[in-house]
Amino acid sequence: MTAKQIVDRSLKTLPSDLDPQRLPRHIAVIMDGNGRWARRRGLPRIMGHPRGVDALRDLVRCCDDWGIKALTVYAFSTENWNRPQKEINVIMMLIEQFLRWELREFAQRQIRVELMGQLQDLPESLKQQTQRTMDKTAENQGMRLTVATNYGGRQEILQACQALAAQVQQGTLNPEDIDQASFERHLYTVGIGDPDLLIRTSGEMRISNFLLWQVAYSEIYITDKLWPDFDRAEMHRALWAFQKRDRRFGKVKPSR
Ligand code: FPP
Repeated sequence: MTAKQIVDRSLKTLPSDLDPQRLPRHIAVIMDGNGRWARRRGLPRIMGHPRGVDALRDLVRCCDDWGIKALTVYAFSTENWNRPQKEINVIMMLIEQFLRWELREFAQRQIRVELMGQLQDLPESLKQQTQRTMDKTAENQGMRLTVATNYGGRQEILQACQALAAQVQQGTLNPEDIDQASFERHLYTVGIGDPDLLIRTSGEMRISNFLLWQVAYSEIYITDKLWPDFDRAEMHRALWAFQKRDRRFGKVKPSR
């Protein structure tokens, strides 16, 4: 057994310095740095993506093992269509494989899986696998895993505006009755809620059009680790940092 496997095994349960009562309920992750990970090893950029899937597979297991209720990951943005076609094909194929190969694991762990984004524009075989995976896991009662695919935060907000505008036009909604709760019912994250913690790898300090509405009060954790190198030890650090934060949601503490 390698040193890394020994460390990972010892982190099978929530590390003892973390408070299980103060874990983030929902974690969102921008999985950045696959290309650089491959380049640093003298490999073509796209070789980083399969290793990115390995890191994602372990993160899903880790979140489930440690009691996280919802995990949302950014797999493909509406802007990623500008990448070389070969790379787009590889990512689409990897998402499809992941949704198919992990089905047994999702069943064992009772993980409910959904994709969010403009799914109608995805390749036909991925759309079919998406539907199968969502159908097969729909009744699962455990962690919610959401894979943002062809997702854009601005597009999501516009779509919610269009839905509300249509109701106003039909005379079923007064503009003054539009509030945060009614707006949120038209977002993809309805039922999952806002992330408490947003993790971004590879050191970039950007939101990159991810969950623009929902991250209003999320704690942000940025690590220099490239996504394929993100492991349970790094997740431990992210959660430890989260538990040190003072979440005030715009308020002041009574003592201040
Ligand atoms: C960012 O790295 C990563 C992506 C755009 C794709 C993320 C995809 C995966 C982890 C694999 C497939 C996903 C699933 C859900 C199975 P980058 O290529 O932008 O890296 P760079 O910034 O170093 O170039």
